[in-house]
Amino acid sequence: MAQSKEQRVREMFAQIAPTYDLLNTLLSCNLHHGWRAAALRCARLRPGARVLDLATGTADFALAAARQVGDGGLVVGVDFCLPILRLGQTKVRRRVAARRGAARTIRLAAGSADHLPFPDDTFDAVIMGYALRNVPSIAACLAEMARVTRPGGWVVNLDLTRPVRRWLQPLYHLYQESVMPFVGGLISGRRSAYRYLPESIRGFPPPDRIAEECRRAGLEQVSWQPLSGGLATIHSGCKP
Ligand SMILES: C[S@@+](CC[C@H](N)C(=O)[O-])C[C@H]1O[C@@H](n2cnc3c(N)ncnc32)[C@H](O)[C@@H]1O
Repeated sequence: MAQSKEQRVREMFAQIAPTYDLLNTLLSCNLHHGWRAAALRCARLRPGARVLDLATGTADFALAAARQVGDGGLVVGVDFCLPILRLGQTKVRRRVAARRGAARTIRLAAGSADHLPFPDDTFDAVIMGYALRNVPSIAACLAEMARVTRPGGWVVNLDLTRPVRRWLQPLYHLYQESVMPFVGGLISGRRSAYRYLPESIRGFPPPDRIAEECRRAGLEQVSWQPLSGGLATIHSGCKP
């Protein structure tokens, strides 16, 4: 029987989990931390806020959010892939032991993006990094993100996209077709995962369509911001 997209994606992340952080840094030329910082500004986090980091992976976004909400806040990271979530948990524990940031406010849990185990209006902000491309239904995922956000709270999505600057497009195409699968395959041993990565970016709807989906999910003040010439894009919207 053919595997569902959900199963394929879960298995793929389980396989590449051990080298995920290293490859994230190498393949984004270390831009991913700055992109997350820009996305967090859109989430308008205050000290004491409750945040959901959906598809948290190795918890980098959750750790960055925890620094902003401080010791009085709460950051919940949810992911459906247990091996990558365990690596996230180890990283969080190390930060707690080293007393770095506000990592002890982080709780990690298993869960799927289109069926979140939280009541309506639970979080002040819901953030997601580099995962909307991977979910089986973008509409169902955004609807869940909006559902668990409290009225007046923000939903923020950061994902990899296609460059908007024309001169960047051929270079990026070359980079995607050769560098990504080669370097990704060499380091992770899973070349197919790093062939899926450019395919998923190409298959991701353009920013105006994602913005439309955000509005359909009930969000208002929806806007998007391309980063680094469109290599990544932030979408944000407020729950009325
Ligand atoms: C590219 S990683 C991003 C991890 C993290 N957000 C970051 O900023 O580095 C994508 C993550 O999304 C998770 N994921 C993909 N589809 C999911 C789904 N339907 N429900 C929950 N998690 C999902 C994967 O397991 C993986 O950890």
